[in-house]
Amino acid sequence: MNTALVIVNIRSLIQTENNVRTKISGKEMAGLSIINDAFLYIRNGIILDFGNMSDLELGDIPLDDPEIIYINASGKLVFPSFCDSHTHLVYAGSREAEFTDKIRGLSYEEIARRGGGILNSAARLHDTSEEELYQQSSVRIREIIALGTGAVEIKSGYGLDVEDELKMLRVIRRIKNSFPLEVKATFLGAHAIPKNYLNKRDEYIDLIINEMIPVIASEDLADYIDVFCDRGFYTIEETEKILMAGMKYGLTAKIHANELDYSGGIQTGVKYNALSVDHLECTGDDEIAMLLDSDTMPTLLPGSSFFLGLKDPPARKMIDAGLPVALASDYNPGSSPSGNMKLIMSLGCIKLRMLPEEVINAVTINSAYAMDISRTHGSIARGKVANVFITKEIPSYEFMPYAFGSDLIDTVILKGEIVKY
Ligand code: NIG
Ligand code: FE
Repeated sequence: MNTALVIVNIRSLIQTENNVRTKISGKEMAGLSIINDAFLYIRNGIILDFGNMSDLELGDIPLDDPEIIYINASGKLVFPSFCDSHTHLVYAGSREAEFTDKIRGLSYEEIARRGGGILNSAARLHDTSEEELYQQSSVRIREIIALGTGAVEIKSGYGLDVEDELKMLRVIRRIKNSFPLEVKATFLGAHAIPKNYLNKRDEYIDLIINEMIPVIASEDLADYIDVFCDRGFYTIEETEKILMAGMKYGLTAKIHANELDYSGGIQTGVKYNALSVDHLECTGDDEIAMLLDSDTMPTLLPGSSFFLGLKDPPARKMIDAGLPVALASDYNPGSSPSGNMKLIMSLGCIKLRMLPEEVINAVTINSAYAMDISRTHGSIARGKVANVFITKEIPSYEFMPYAFGSDLIDTVILKGEIVKY
């Protein structure tokens, strides 16, 4: 493969960097580097050059090379692909019956206590073959690629026994080997306590530690380890035990924290040097102080607080205190049945009061950091992987989160190839 693409006459090239940063924090999140009337030169899957159209002839591009495919993007914008650092998109079936229960007044926790929620998805997944699970998940992957996502983290956690957790992780690996987007896998055996262990949770935790983690590590099926550390799910002590076991096998922590309560999850994540702590609806001054003194990326999932009607995480307060913030979709059947990162940007602006520049940083470079890929993804920089999308004709980058219901993505380029699904 030796594809060379030159995108010319780009109305605005968004999120360009000459010196790459791994994350963007505090006040700097309101800054966004853009080049108007720009070109972008891609070869062999890598961004080689970009700049103003008036400099096109001064660069190294062999403009008369017949191999070069020119794309005219006049009136259009080019963005780095979205990085979605938190999803559960490998699942079986769907849970719209619980959606109706919620409308009738049941809370997420009440539904979970009645055997709905995560346990409902676990039962469905158990009855679904690996092949069928792959087919269902592939539909969602094609969908998010068309919606502009170029890197995605996917969690297990609807298996809740050795065989079914491995089934999920194998499906994630097959996705990684079959699609052009970047994929990171997270082992989330501690997503819920399975039905048959409700009165012997210690035994399930032993199963995670002694049986699941060693096999997963030996087959190299996961990059990260996650725990749903919150009221009604896993305690701090249990979370610490599980994280330590995973870390012994080289899995980095990334945890679900402080969604339902001030549960100490953020502090635990920071203590174990988690790459990210995610959800964070219940974040106060103590949690912010801990995060400021850490390398952990606070990751907010406004799709799930919107869908469940929870209070919103205090994004403004976090950014104003100097923290970086990443946004991700949480694509899953129970709390956020959408992987649409453009909609997540809109929710970031509308619900979390983040500025358009802040949400763009949050869904690109900062969410790349939360997947440990911000050196290669998440901005338009020379040497980075050529994952970008071209919009339809739109007036400005602010138009993307503003026009919250419109499909504005025209062309998707992943690893330097134009992708069509
Ligand atoms: O991130 N909070 C925990 N887990 C998922 C929801 C999973 C489900 O309901 O299926 C989440 O929101
Ligand atoms: Fe989640």
